[in-house]
Amino acid sequence: MSEVMTDKVLLQVNDLTKFYPIQQGLSRRAAGTVHAVDSVSFEVKQGECLGLVGESGCGKTTVARCILKLIEPTSGQITLHAPQTDLEITTADGKEVRQLRRWLQMIFQDPFASLDPRWTVGNIIAEPLIAQGISRREAEQRVAEVLPLAGLGTHFSNRYPHELSGGERQRVGIARAIVVNPLLIVADEPVSALDVSVRAQIVNLLLELQERLGLSYIFIAHDLSIVKHISDRIGVMYLGQIVEIGSRDQVFTQLMHPYTEALLMSVLTPVPDERGISYVLEGDVPSPINPPTGCRFASRCRFAQAQCREQSPDLRDMGGGHLVRCHFAGELELIRAN
Ligand SMILES: Nc1ncnc2c1ncn2[C@@H]1O[C@H](COP(=O)(O)OP(=O)(O)OP(=O)(O)O)[C@@H](O)[C@H]1O
Ligand SMILES: [Mg+2]
Repeated sequence: MSEVMTDKVLLQVNDLTKFYPIQQGLSRRAAGTVHAVDSVSFEVKQGECLGLVGESGCGKTTVARCILKLIEPTSGQITLHAPQTDLEITTADGKEVRQLRRWLQMIFQDPFASLDPRWTVGNIIAEPLIAQGISRREAEQRVAEVLPLAGLGTHFSNRYPHELSGGERQRVGIARAIVVNPLLIVADEPVSALDVSVRAQIVNLLLELQERLGLSYIFIAHDLSIVKHISDRIGVMYLGQIVEIGSRDQVFTQLMHPYTEALLMSVLTPVPDERGISYVLEGDVPSPINPPTGCRFASRCRFAQAQCREQSPDLRDMGGGHLVRCHFAGELELIRAN
């Protein structure tokens, strides 16, 4: 557990839902609905890192975009408990949006695409400060303070993004995120595009900054191995829904959902075990367009029964804040990490 984690809830997400209508033909008639995010709820405590994992297309980025108010959800509430004020993100406007930009920051997957190539590193990092109305002089001072926090010398200030390595570019992305002293940073696959050799460095830098600045994170990744060392709690998503959420321990060593098992085993054993059982997930995630009734994971689940194809399971509390969306949670013999 992170040393700065507290019991105070910082962000509360309730029944967050984002549907995209699909239109077809020249008349753009309605042809279905993409259930990108379907009734997702979770909270992030102050000083906590929540890992969000799941395969491509399961809705992780959509959740992130709703929290950052880059898109409007179809329904649901997102509340940020900021100092002295509670901000309702989905309905915030005007001055509240400006406050939100200060408290919430984002780190992107592809640091090259997210940094303007025509701007110097100094100007890129200063930009969120200028947007908050801080003078250029003060902004420059603040940039000189955060560069070393992100592990960069102050001379980097005059460089351009194309003059940096991938790892250095992501450090610039991190410096820009922390420059306004945010409460929460949403990091959407911040190391996926980086060389394996620098991934651990960037994760360690984020951990160090969390301790030092008391930051909270939502850390998004495809697989469990990347979030293991940084997350206090982990939410596993499948086809727009959370299927399991709990502490790192609950998700790694007391896991109860077959999808979590498959995600974990695909990292631990890429080849079949001695009994010839392959845990690598076969088949694609079913289409999120008008998803089937019943459990969304049933078509790929090695334990699926008739009930699973007919009845959609609820997210049930299995004790100690460990929530699992499976009819047979607690009854299955799953392989767990040690
Ligand atoms: N603007 C949009 N219009 C229609 N469908 C969309 C739109 N944006 C996202 N989707 C769909 O919503 C679903 C969730 O997408 P999202 O980007 O949130 O997934 P993700 O978990 O971040 O995937 P990845 O791991 O590949 O980044 C996908 O099926 C995607 O095609
Ligand atoms: Mg994504």
